[in-house]
Amino acid sequence: MKFLIKSALLHILVLLLVYNLSNCVNGHDDSVTRQLQRPGPQYYPSRGEPWPKPQLRNLYNDSIMIIRPPIFRFKVLRYTCDMVEDALKRYYSIILKTVSHSAPIVNLANAKHNKSWKSDPGFKGYLDVLQVDLMAPCESMPHESMDEAYEIKIGTSGFEGTGLLTASSNWGILRGLETFVQLLYPADDFSSIQIKTTLILDYPRFSYRSVLLDTSRHFLSMKILKQNLDLMAFNKYNVFHWHIVDDQSFPYQSRKFPQLSDKGAYQPYTHVYTQQNIAEIIEYARLRGIRVVAEFDTPGHTQAWGPAIPGLLTPCYNKEGQPDGTFGPIDPTNEKNFEFIHSFFEEVVSVFPDKYLHLGGDEVYYDCWKSSPLIAAFMAQQNMTDYAEVEQYYMQRLVNIVQSYPKNSSYIVWQETIDNGVQVKKDAIVHVWKNVNVPQEMSHVTSLGYKTLFSSCWYLNKISYGIDWTTYYDCDPQNFNGTNAQKRLVLGGGPAMWTEYVDSANIIARLWPRASLPAERLWSDANVRNKSDAARRLEEHRCRLLKRGYQLQPPNGPGFCGVEWD
Ligand SMILES: *[C@@H]1O[C@H](CO)[C@@H](O)[C@H](O)[C@H]1NC(C)=O
Ligand SMILES: *[C@@H]1O[C@H](CO)[C@@H](O)[C@H](O)[C@H]1NC(C)=O
Ligand SMILES: *[C@@H]1O[C@H](CO)[C@@H](O)[C@H](O)[C@H]1NC(C)=O
Ligand SMILES: *[C@@H]1O[C@H](CO)[C@@H](O)[C@H](O)[C@H]1NC(C)=O
Ligand SMILES: *[C@@H]1O[C@H](CO)[C@@H](O)[C@H](O)[C@H]1NC(C)=O
Ligand SMILES: *[C@@H]1O[C@H](CO)[C@@H](O)[C@H](O)[C@H]1NC(C)=O
Repeated sequence: MKFLIKSALLHILVLLLVYNLSNCVNGHDDSVTRQLQRPGPQYYPSRGEPWPKPQLRNLYNDSIMIIRPPIFRFKVLRYTCDMVEDALKRYYSIILKTVSHSAPIVNLANAKHNKSWKSDPGFKGYLDVLQVDLMAPCESMPHESMDEAYEIKIGTSGFEGTGLLTASSNWGILRGLETFVQLLYPADDFSSIQIKTTLILDYPRFSYRSVLLDTSRHFLSMKILKQNLDLMAFNKYNVFHWHIVDDQSFPYQSRKFPQLSDKGAYQPYTHVYTQQNIAEIIEYARLRGIRVVAEFDTPGHTQAWGPAIPGLLTPCYNKEGQPDGTFGPIDPTNEKNFEFIHSFFEEVVSVFPDKYLHLGGDEVYYDCWKSSPLIAAFMAQQNMTDYAEVEQYYMQRLVNIVQSYPKNSSYIVWQETIDNGVQVKKDAIVHVWKNVNVPQEMSHVTSLGYKTLFSSCWYLNKISYGIDWTTYYDCDPQNFNGTNAQKRLVLGGGPAMWTEYVDSANIIARLWPRASLPAERLWSDANVRNKSDAARRLEEHRCRLLKRGYQLQPPNGPGFCGVEWD
C-alpha cells in the first residue's frame, strides 16, 4: 500500500512535467478527419499501445521482451480469489487468441525464434512469467468507491527479465490484466509476440464510467448483453446502466407482478429477462468489475406498465371532458399507485445489488395531466399552481419510498427533474443528457450541490457519415465554468445506446469502438487529447478486439487489420 502511494506521488510529479510539455494539442485537429490522398490506409495502427491511455507510461530504451504463449504463465504472489483466478484464465485465453489469429506463429515454441532474437540489440529476454501481486484480500461486489489503480513493470531496472502487476485491490488487478494483454503485439513478420519494456502507473479519472443499453425499444439477447459487458471490460468501463423497460415494452419479469411482462413485453415467453437471466448478467458483470445499475423510469415512459396495473396511468381527456382512451404518466392522485410503487421497487432493490438505482424522471409531458379534471381537482386540493409541482410530488414520494427500505439506495434522476424546478433532496445524483447549453446545465446542476453524471455528447445511437469519433473525444464532462468543488461533483457518466434503430443484429458494431472514445475521456487524464495519437491507438484497439472475436466497425475510414474478420 505505502509503496504504491509513494510511487504514485513520485509519478504525479513526473506527470506534471510531462503535461507541461505536451499540453499544446487542444482544439480540433483537421488532419484526423481529412481524407488523405495517397495509397495505403488512413492510419497505421500503433503497436502495443493500450486504450484507454494510462495515466503514466515510461518506455525504456526501445527494448522489448518476447512472450512464448506455451511457456508463459501468471504467478500469483499474495492474495487471490475466484474472481482473480477466473480473470487469469480469461486473459490467458485472450493471449492464445492473439496468437492463433496470427497464423504463421502457431509453433511458437519452435527453435527458429530463439535464434533470431538473441542477436537483436533491443531484445531483453523472454517474459515467461507475469507475477500478479494483489496486496489485500478480494472484495466481492464492485462498488462506487472501488480502487481500480494498478502498476505494471515489464523488464524495468530492478525487474530485468521479469514482469510484475501490482494492485491494492482485485479491481486494480482486473484493469491491469486488461492493460497487460493490450501491451502485447505481433512482430512485423508475425514471428513472435512482443512487449515493450515499460513502467505503467494507472488509475481512473472518474469513478463512474457507464454504458447505457435500452432493452425496451428492441429486446437484446443474453449473448449480446454479455458481449457488451466483455467490451466494456476491455475499455475499463465499470457500470452497466440497464435501461430495462420503457414505453414500448416491459421485458423485466417481476416475481411479485408477473403480469407486468405478461402484458407489457413484446412477447411474454421469448422477450423477457427472467430473474435467473438477471442474476446471470449481474454475476457476469461482477466478475469483470462492472456494476449493474438498473433504471426503471417513471412517471413518464411507462406506457408498457399500464395494461398490467389498472389505474396506474393517468387517463387523458378530450375537449368534451371525456376520457379519450389514451394514458399519460403515472397518476399521482391515486393513492393505491404508491402502494404498488412501494411493493414493486422493494423487489427491484432486492434483485439489483448495487447501491445505485436510476429513477428516470425524464420527459414527463404535462399535456395529459393538463387535460384531466382529476389532476385539476388534486392540484386545487394540494394548493398547487404548476404541473412541475405535480411531478415534484410524485418524485418526492418515490424517493421517500426508495429510501424507506433498509438498503437506503442512492438514486439517480435525469436532468429534467431539476430543469422543471422539481425540488429533490441534496443526495440525488443528477444525470445530464440533453445536448443543448451543456456547460450552462452542468454549471447550474453542480451549483445546486448535486452529484452529477454526464452523457450529453455521447448519444451513440445518433449516426452520420464519416469519422465521428473526434466529437466524442473532444467532449469533456468537466468542461464548464465552475469552482473546483463543482467540478468534483462530477462523478463521470458515459455513452447511451437507445435502441429504436438497433437490435442484437447490429448493436455491437454500431456501439463499438465508438464507445471507446468516452471510455478514454472518462479514464485517462484530461490532457490526453492528441487526436493523431488517438487515431492510431484506436485503429490498433479496434483490430485487437476484432481478433478477440467481436464485430466492431472500422472507426477511421480506409484501412486494414493485421488479421481480418472472417
Ligand atoms: C538503457 O541503456 C543504457 C545504455 O545502454 C543503460 O545504461 C541503461 O541501464 C538502460 N536502461 C534501462 C532501463 O534498461
Ligand atoms: C529454444 O529455446 C528453448 C527454451 O529456452 C530451448 O529449450 C531450446 O533448446 C532452444 N532451441 C534452440 C535451437 O536453441
Ligand atoms: C391549502 O391552503 C389552505 C389555505 O391556505 C390551507 O388551509 C390548506 O391546509 C392547504 N392545503 C395543503 C395540502 O397544503
Ligand atoms: C439514507 O442515505 C442518505 C444519504 O445518502 C441519508 O441522508 C439518510 O439519512 C439515509 N436514511 C436512512 C434511513 O438511513
Ligand atoms: C466560461 O465563461 C467565459 C466567460 O464568460 C466564456 O467565455 C466561456 O465560453 C465559458 N466556458 C464554458 C465552457 O462555458
Ligand atoms: C500527437 O501525436 C502524433 C502521433 O503520435 C505525434 O506525431 C505528435 O507529435 C503529437 N503532438 C504533440 C503536440 O504531442
